[in-house]
Amino acid sequence: AQLPPIENETYKHYAPGSRERAALKAELEALKSQFPVRVPCVVNGKEYFDDAEPVEQVMPHDHRRVIALYRPLDGQLVQKAIQGALEARERWSRTPADERAAIFLKAAELASQKYRYRLNAATMFGQSKNVWQAEIDAAVETIDFWRFGVKYMREIYNMQPPEHFPRGVWNRLEWRPLEGFVAAISPFNFTAIGANLPSSPAIMGNVALWKPSPNTELSSWFVYQVLREAGLPEGVIQFLPGDGPSFSRACLQHPALAGVHFTGSTRTFRTIWQQVASNLPHYRNYPRIVGETGGKNFHFVHPSADLDWVVPHTIRGAFEYQGQKCSATSRLYVPSSLWPTLRDRLVREMQQIKQGPVEDFSIFMSAVINRQAFERIRNYIEQARTASQQMNPVAKIIHGGSCDDRVGYFIQPTLIETRDPDFVTMREEIFGPVLTVYVYRDTEMESALDHALYGTDYALTGAIFARERSAVMALTDRLRDAAGNFYINDKCTGSIVGQQPFGGARQSGTNDKSGSVLNLLRWTSARAIKESF
Ligand code: ALA
Repeated sequence: AQLPPIENETYKHYAPGSRERAALKAELEALKSQFPVRVPCVVNGKEYFDDAEPVEQVMPHDHRRVIALYRPLDGQLVQKAIQGALEARERWSRTPADERAAIFLKAAELASQKYRYRLNAATMFGQSKNVWQAEIDAAVETIDFWRFGVKYMREIYNMQPPEHFPRGVWNRLEWRPLEGFVAAISPFNFTAIGANLPSSPAIMGNVALWKPSPNTELSSWFVYQVLREAGLPEGVIQFLPGDGPSFSRACLQHPALAGVHFTGSTRTFRTIWQQVASNLPHYRNYPRIVGETGGKNFHFVHPSADLDWVVPHTIRGAFEYQGQKCSATSRLYVPSSLWPTLRDRLVREMQQIKQGPVEDFSIFMSAVINRQAFERIRNYIEQARTASQQMNPVAKIIHGGSCDDRVGYFIQPTLIETRDPDFVTMREEIFGPVLTVYVYRDTEMESALDHALYGTDYALTGAIFARERSAVMALTDRLRDAAGNFYINDKCTGSIVGQQPFGGARQSGTNDKSGSVLNLLRWTSARAIKESF
């Protein structure tokens, strides 16, 4: 069958007085009345929930509110899930591609038409995303991942690299699913990444075990229910909210582990590699390890930059979703000729930022995800404060810096200026609303570029701002290895499925580009078939 044209899902704007705003508000109220929602594990279609010792998911912007309860995971259930997935694989891996496509296209339709507000509401409450951030994530990106996943699957199956067919020979490539199961481990910061990590292997005919982040149990549960309603057969994706280590231990030691699809911290990803490495002789296949991890992303401002572009893009890149996108802007390089004006303009904008609970549709920022994140970010801010109190300060807080966890985990958007490009907040990933600026002399741009390129272990996203065409070309070339996603006169966040394949290199991951055909290719193991006659 021909696929209908696949396009990005259209955003809803939730303008005051609009029907969609009323519908989302109603969904927020309805969901609130169901708290705490019980989130079970689902293995082979059967739900498991242990009333004896449930774990709580709370609202980050009001941590007294328990929104979901889930079950602590145990190794035995994970083993059962692996066994069940391997049994489901017998049928799923031979299910015609068009039938698999129908399930994910239907899931996209359900998410778009029937469950959009519920997915958004759960993401707002559970991950403290404001209405726009929830819409571009839980609705638009989830839908795009499913629809484009189907498109890329079709493109891969149409790809037939054999080109020479001597007489009497028939060559072809068979795009087989991997032999085994995929472990999908998703982060808190995008509901859509949770939807994608188990789905892209499944679209390619694989089975997966999905362990969402403990901070997204509610939204992940709703995503999973959409997949079930769309007709995903039992066992193809096993849903295992709960504890990371018992999940990883059981999956990574299993001989049938065929792949890991991971988004999360660099530290956890390294542990996964180490565990896989130590288990290599026991696997039937070398597991495919696909990971997107940390970042220390930059905006590099050239002396020819237009500040009307730099200011809004930098505010959005650094502070949207409280700086908790792996792509968030956290380093800013600015020439001294532009800094006084840029500083004033950034501070003016930051003073206007409205922060609060997500039920208020006029906020720009809300709370960070949990206590651990709050303490970590506060600690970085304290290091800048301590540095600023020295005789000859290497860093100072230009704006923000206050932290308040009485009701929710609120951290003010914070701007730090340093004269040491290696100051800790210029090097380490903070994953919060903290932007550090290094002001370089216009005559010393080369060493600032060196620092943008080599100053951290990461290479996820970066942006340059310049009006001169020659500068755009020179900086783009010079910073070639600094980022897997590179932006010119745009913020370094907000990649769109089907438009900017996403992923970075170095300690930022394996750069297998989610939201593109390159990622889907990782979930197939081709067989070259030659037939003679
Ligand atoms: N893909 C997300 C972005 O680019 C992380 O912001």
